[in-house]
Order: sequence, then C-alpha cells, then structure tokens
Amino acid sequence: MAETPKPSSEHGVGTVAIRWHGNSLELLDQRLLPGEEHWITLEGAVGVAQSIRDMVVRGAPAIGISAAYGVALAARHAGGGDWKAEIKQSIRELAASRPTAVNLFWALQRMEQVFHECHSLDEAVKRLAKEAVTIHQEDLAANFAMADHAVEFMAPDKPISVLTHCNTGALATGGYGTALGVIRRLNEKKLLKEVFADETRPWLQGSRLTAWELTRDGIPVTLNADGAAAAIMARGDVRWVIVGADRITANGDVANKIGTYSLAVLARHHKVGFMVVAPSSTVDMSLASGADIPIEERDGLEVREIRGIRLAPEGVKVFNPVFDVTPASLIDAIVTEKGVVHNPNITGMRALFG
Ligand code: MRU
Repeated sequence: MAETPKPSSEHGVGTVAIRWHGNSLELLDQRLLPGEEHWITLEGAVGVAQSIRDMVVRGAPAIGISAAYGVALAARHAGGGDWKAEIKQSIRELAASRPTAVNLFWALQRMEQVFHECHSLDEAVKRLAKEAVTIHQEDLAANFAMADHAVEFMAPDKPISVLTHCNTGALATGGYGTALGVIRRLNEKKLLKEVFADETRPWLQGSRLTAWELTRDGIPVTLNADGAAAAIMARGDVRWVIVGADRITANGDVANKIGTYSLAVLARHHKVGFMVVAPSSTVDMSLASGADIPIEERDGLEVREIRGIRLAPEGVKVFNPVFDVTPASLIDAIVTEKGVVHNPNITGMRALFG
C-alpha cells in the first residue's frame, strides 16, 4: 500500500493534517484547533466533499489532495453495480464542494484522466490510490522547491521580519507550506527575525492555525489583528508580506484569503515587498484575469458569531466573501516550484506556464 508522505519530523514540522490509510482517509479537524486535536475518519467521497465544504480541511493544496483521496475512496468502496457511474458521481460531488481554489479542479482532472484509462474496478482501485499519493507527494516536493526559490530571490543579508495572512502551512498543504514554507526555510537558515500573523477574520485561520502551527515548531510569531497591519508596516520592521494563493490567472492576478488585497495596497504604500507563493497547481491559465475567478461567499453566521457567541445584532445583513483578488500590478513576485515570476504580467506568466 502506498503511504502518505511523512515530511514532518525530518523538516522540523510538528503538524500533519492528512493521513491516508489505503481504505480510509483521516483529516485533522481544523475547525476545532487550537483547542482540540481531533481526527475525522472518512471512507467515502461524500464525507470528503462535506469535510471540504465545512472546512474540516482547508487551504488550496490540501483541498486538492483531500479530493484526490476522495476519488480513491470512491473506487475502493464502490458497490458491485455500475462502478464507473459511482466514481463519476463522486467526482461531481467533490467538484461542488468549494468554488475558488483551482487546486480542487486540477486534482480532480488528474484523477479523472487516470480513471478514464482504467478497464476494471480492480485496476481503478489501485491506480487511483497511487495517483492520489503522487499528488500529495508532488505537492510536498513543490513546497520545498518554492521555499528554496523564494529565499534565493529575497536574498536577505540579515534576519528579516515578515507578515503573513491566513494559514498556508503544513495544515494547508502536503505538509510543509507555501508562504509558511518560505517562512520555515528563512527560520531554518537563521534569516527570520519574526513573523507577524494576521488573525484573518472572520474564520481566524491566522490566530487559530498559523499561530498554533508556528508556536508548536518554535518559530517566532507575533499575532496581530488584521487592522494592525498598516501600523506594523509603518514602523518599518517588515521587509516582505508573504501570502499563498487559491487561484492565479494568466495575467498574474491572484485570488487569496479576504484581506490579501488590502495588504498588497498597504505594502506598496510602505515600500514593503509583496510575494505570493503557490504551486503550479494553483495557476489557472484558462482565465484571462482575476475578474473571471468565482469568489466564494460563505454564511453570514461566520461574521455574526464566533463558536455560537453572537457578536452582532441578530439577523443583521452580512457580506462575507472569503477571498479577494489582488491585481498583478501590486505583486512583486509569484513564486512557484517552476521558478519565480518577477513583476507578474501575461508575458512572464506565459514564459513559465505556457
Ligand atoms: O478558506 P481557506 O482557509 O481554505 O483559505 C485558504 C487561503 O486562502 C490560503 O491562503 C490559500 O489557500 C493558500 S494555502 C497554501
């Protein structure tokens, strides 16, 4: 049986969010962190789709990896009848779980291609499981390559402070991180003074996940309210804002967690570098610009309440888009495992991604 990649201990990463067991998938329930470390066991694609929708697992690469395992589970537990129809239906259900992160559709497309090549259920069970593990392994390898490219690109001559948004770490990826992978690598090379982590309202990925993940691994982190980012940059300590992405379009526009766009505007005003770190599975060259990206809006309850505690008048109208689009013109560098696009535009994107 192909095993889940185990990056953790070797690279000083104390966190794993996805465990594959061949006939089941375990996901660390990220809704309960940092209070409780609870694992959910799934044996079918419906449960995986639900877990993606409900944010048990989140972060673009982790969503893609989980969906791939979901397809593998669909084959593993297919009934005796029309197994092809069952797997196709599972792929449809997984595709409907969340709309913005293109890694989900990218991973499902890869799985679907393998599925179409299979002549028997037996073959599908084996090959789909293998493909899902490969997707997981490749994401982890991409994390390491991006960390190398980014640190080489920044070339800091002394330890620097950086600011990040949302959670882009081991919890959100194959096991190391995109933006947080770069931050981990800076720390490994003793080039990190400290990380400011935006709390990332409304879901609080920054305070609940990033601060937890970094504290566990002994990486110097300071948590701040989102609204403090301007004041932090004005002090002049921060050299780079480093974030992840959910979808990058052909002109270099980037959809990422709501609040990313404001950070890019602030960074430009304060002459702070703005870097996006994402694997090529996040690049969607089929979309011309960020205006074409479907932006997920979630329940207003996420803004009105925190864990059942009401913070706003009952029934108040809420606007809750969970991603925004940062125009390429505000981005200094997009770092992928294939290399760096400096001052991204359509020419630079085409040169790297065809
Ligand atoms: O809603 P989420 O938590 O899935 O959003 C996550 C983000 O926006 C991340 O920044 C992005 O997916 C990159 S994760 C490596």
